[in-house]
Amino acid sequence: MAAPTTAPKILLMVTGGIAAYKSCLLARLLVQAGFSVKVAMTDAATKFVTPMTFQVLTGHPVATDMWGDRPSDALDHIEFSRWADLAVIAPATANTMAKAAYGIADGIVSTMLLAFPGPVLMAPAMNNNMLRHPATVANREILAARGVNFVGPGSGWLACGTVDEGRMAEPEEILSAVRELAKDLPAAVAIPEETGFWTGKRVLITAGPTHEPIDPVRYVANRSSGTMGYALASAAVAAGASVTLVSGPVALTPPRGLAGFRVVETAADMAAAVGEVLDAGADWLIMSAAVADFKPAHFATGKLKKDVLGDGWSLALTRNPDILGEVVPEHRSGPESDGLRVVGFALETDDMVGRASLKREAKKMDYILANDPTATGSGFGAENHQVTLIGADGIIWESASAPKKALAKEILQQLARTDSSSGG
Ligand code: CTP
Repeated sequence: MAAPTTAPKILLMVTGGIAAYKSCLLARLLVQAGFSVKVAMTDAATKFVTPMTFQVLTGHPVATDMWGDRPSDALDHIEFSRWADLAVIAPATANTMAKAAYGIADGIVSTMLLAFPGPVLMAPAMNNNMLRHPATVANREILAARGVNFVGPGSGWLACGTVDEGRMAEPEEILSAVRELAKDLPAAVAIPEETGFWTGKRVLITAGPTHEPIDPVRYVANRSSGTMGYALASAAVAAGASVTLVSGPVALTPPRGLAGFRVVETAADMAAAVGEVLDAGADWLIMSAAVADFKPAHFATGKLKKDVLGDGWSLALTRNPDILGEVVPEHRSGPESDGLRVVGFALETDDMVGRASLKREAKKMDYILANDPTATGSGFGAENHQVTLIGADGIIWESASAPKKALAKEILQQLARTDSSSGG
């Protein structure tokens, strides 16, 4: 008979940053996902959130003090470290990273960390200048070289009032990083099964712009950053889906835990990649890429020179394949992608719902997410975004203006709700 398996035991160490409040949600997500969780907090962390919050969320006493009155206090640091399979430091401050890099053990968290021999995941969170300080950069390198894993930080609104890199990764992202790391634990430790609508679904997401070359140094492109598609990919991974991301050229780091990741340049490349993934099998296609509708009619193999082009230059363009309209129908009828659900996007400035509905029908999408880039709380490069989800019977849901990561999660929840109730 196989040896009994147990859920992985997570030691969640919370250090002193405002992001500590998000670690409460992380603790809840980990517990809901079936992990056993014990929490240790630095003194500074207890100034942001109380140990009682974590005690209630995890059902275990929280270690905060090596020199407290309880008889167990002096031994907690060894006991917790011995108990855990995996350590997560979230948020990980610059100070904690520095101590960990140099093996300093002057408090409950730093001591536990030194006493813990297993895999470690850090979710840094700090002011942007602290993050870029050569000391922090060097400490992170030392830790990474030693095998410490990192998730984030991402960009966004920081507590110091700036919008920059330094924000702790979202709890869902940290959860999916924990799931990834847990895969390497001994077989006797079973990762809890995920059971939601998206669990095990094969989801293909496209993101970013396409670049259509004019000559070896120039191209036609658009301003898509890929943020929405990457946020959807990350949310789908966190929801348990098997996600393949096909991305145009963007400056983003792919989320952890993807089943497949393809970087493409042109609309033709993206069309080919989408076709291949659909042929291999997919349950959902979410086309968030801003595919270029046109490409230069001729590609010049040598750089076009000004003196040859003269004072004016007319660039002849020709239509690209419409991936949703022309390429997907050829691949969705195969046995592997039978039952494929297709979600597209539409950018409309006039009669948004009417036009997006027509587009949905014309391109045979099941759902379309429409947005108006000129509306307040939305648009290119904006931190927040607003979408309207439209199906065969009209508007299904109008989102509030929200950060793209939070919005991505809500979009998936809405799609799950709608599709389950329509028998999908
Ligand atoms: N799309 C595609 N292939 C293209 C162009 C777009 O599959 N060659 C997809 C996009 O990924 C998106 C949807 O189609 O999901 C957008 O449709 P589109 O008609 O391009 O709408 P807009 O981008 O809003 O452009 P326009 O209003 O100019 O038609």
